[in-house]
Amino acid sequence: MQERIKKIQADFESEITKVGNPAELEQVRIKFLSRKGLVPQLFEDFKQLPSDEKPKYGKTLNILKNSIQSKFDQIKQKIDNKAESDVNLVDLSLPGRRAHLGSMHILMQTMYEIRDIFKSLGFSVYEGPELESDYNNFEALNFPEDHPARDMQDTFFINENFLLRTHTSPVQVRLMQNKKPPLRAIMPGKVYRNEAISAKSYCLFHQVEGLYVDNDVTFAELKGTLVAFAKQFFGEEIKYRFRPSFFPFTEPSAEVDIWWEPKGKEGRWMEILGCGMVDPNVLENVGIDPEKYTGYAFGMGVERIAMRKYGIDDIRTFFDNDKRFLIQF
Ligand code: PHE
Repeated sequence: MQERIKKIQADFESEITKVGNPAELEQVRIKFLSRKGLVPQLFEDFKQLPSDEKPKYGKTLNILKNSIQSKFDQIKQKIDNKAESDVNLVDLSLPGRRAHLGSMHILMQTMYEIRDIFKSLGFSVYEGPELESDYNNFEALNFPEDHPARDMQDTFFINENFLLRTHTSPVQVRLMQNKKPPLRAIMPGKVYRNEAISAKSYCLFHQVEGLYVDNDVTFAELKGTLVAFAKQFFGEEIKYRFRPSFFPFTEPSAEVDIWWEPKGKEGRWMEILGCGMVDPNVLENVGIDPEKYTGYAFGMGVERIAMRKYGIDDIRTFFDNDKRFLIQF
């Protein structure tokens, strides 16, 4: 009996000092302290001893049990603490997590670029609301009620008198109503049209309108300004053409096309803006004397310009919010 006690004591000592984690600790507990472990086993055997031997071993057994239990508890405490501090441990050598920086949407970048070019040509910037009156969007711009030209612009009406603007031209009206000539400004913003969505058109897009009103403004100046813009924006070698057109609020009117050869496809002309001399009726509507003043106006589609510049062939990609597209710019 004495020998067994000594052996168990020695084995426990050697095994408990090697314990490094909860799983190993559990092994030691099972071996020595569990219901069928070596220590309870000793007590079972103790019961079988002749009664005159019992006093001799009783005390030793109790001392053994207490010392094993307290040593075990002490090691358990250490291991529990260690597990906890491992969780809180910060490993400064791990590689950092990279934060993804956002960037300005390609359409906004394009708007800023357009804006900077016109600012350098002496234009200021003026903005108006996206919810407009029928009067500012159509009537003041010489689209009489029931005029077929209204059909050119598929309108989202809010009610009989209000709508989502179909172009940035109502901002011309606002500017001319509020300020006296000379006026020279661009008017960037969102516009809305109730069109079938396709690679070429979307229900929402962006325009930059331009207006110059002063004594003796001429079509030649309009042309010179737009060509200067196109060359700065697309490069000196850009191929363009002015084509006669019609808008109720300009007379004469033109559209500007630029040449586009998408990769692997046949080249074609792409319309990027409408322009013309402000119709005298419009000047009269906003209280500017058409005998004293003339003006030109233009309105360009930002998406189309960006498509041409960056080789994008589907307008919908601007609005999909697909990060793989957006991070390229
Ligand atoms: N507002 C016209 C459009 O959206 C473009 C335009 C603007 C044409 C100014 C002439 C002058 O189609």
